[in-house]
Amino acid sequence: MGKSAFQMAIPLFMAALMAVFLSETSAVALSKGSFKDNFDIMWSESNFKTSSDGQIWYLSLDQETGNIPIVLTKQRYRFGWFSMKLRLVGGDSAGVVTAYYTFDEGKLNFDLQMCTENGAGPTRDELDFEFLGNRTGQPYLVQTNVYKNGTGGREMRHLLWFDPTEDYHSYSILWNNHQIVFFVDRVPIRVYKNNGESNNFFPNKKPMYLFSSIWNADDWATRGGLEKTDWKKAPFVSCYKDFSVDGCQWEDPYPACVSTTTKNWWDQYPSWHLTDAQKKDYGWVKRNLVIYDYCQDTERYPTPMEECSLSPWD
Ligand SMILES: *[C@@H]1O[C@H](CO)[C@@H](O)[C@H](O)[C@H]1NC(C)=O
Ligand SMILES: *[C@@H]1O[C@H](CO)[C@@H](O)[C@H](O)[C@H]1NC(C)=O
Repeated sequence: MGKSAFQMAIPLFMAALMAVFLSETSAVALSKGSFKDNFDIMWSESNFKTSSDGQIWYLSLDQETGNIPIVLTKQRYRFGWFSMKLRLVGGDSAGVVTAYYTFDEGKLNFDLQMCTENGAGPTRDELDFEFLGNRTGQPYLVQTNVYKNGTGGREMRHLLWFDPTEDYHSYSILWNNHQIVFFVDRVPIRVYKNNGESNNFFPNKKPMYLFSSIWNADDWATRGGLEKTDWKKAPFVSCYKDFSVDGCQWEDPYPACVSTTTKNWWDQYPSWHLTDAQKKDYGWVKRNLVIYDYCQDTERYPTPMEECSLSPWD
């Protein structure tokens, strides 16, 4: 995969971004650090471990217990910048999906009611990262999806430019009044423009949680379900660290979140669209790493969903 110019551009881009972060830190909510400070274990203790300092945590999936581990933020958020570093299940991980979502309370209540981690709240908003495992040496795919008021079906799939099982990489979501952007190591891989009233994905009416899990999805995940989970390789373990949110908590008054005087960088003008450097990276991703894009799938959607006509370049 051609990467030289691109990879050389990243350190510069990151340095610029860090400078922005360091100079504008007057956010309403800034949380960093250990698992215990940020998350609750919904299910179950036996599939969960942390390092002794609590800075790294592990979710594991096996067949014996049949448990699906779920962790959930203590805090509920309106919007902002959400980021976490993950190292995904290594070796033979075919059929196994590691998931990392933001979703609203409606979905949570619904799921607890139905005793299923993967049910669908009828009016949920949700942003998904799903990491689709593979046979040893075969590439992971990152699937992202967006649900708006209960309607999803907006999948994209990307290859990565590194092996996500070898080391930690950051996976982040920027969510503000103007755009929703999925990032991998600060490189934008997917962009959703908000289009005022007619297509506004920006949620300010529902409190959002961040959630992570790992589950068996060998009916669809790897080569469309052809590759089955090899339970002899269990437990399947995903590792996490450096959770950080720089955003508004649900309790924060909405006007203050978006006020230009509070200077929340994630909802200020420079974060309303991709920067020039981000556009360059995004163009490279689009040309080289997109495996599937629902906006291009005319068999599935003879009339593309309305947001497909919005340009990410604006
Ligand atoms: C969301 O969906 C529900 C039921 O499907 C509908 O009643 C409601 O009006 C929708 N809300 C918005 C904001 O579109
Ligand atoms: C798994 O590897 C196969 C073979 O390289 C590839 O076709 C597929 O896209 C990869 N990922 C998934 C999730 O199926």
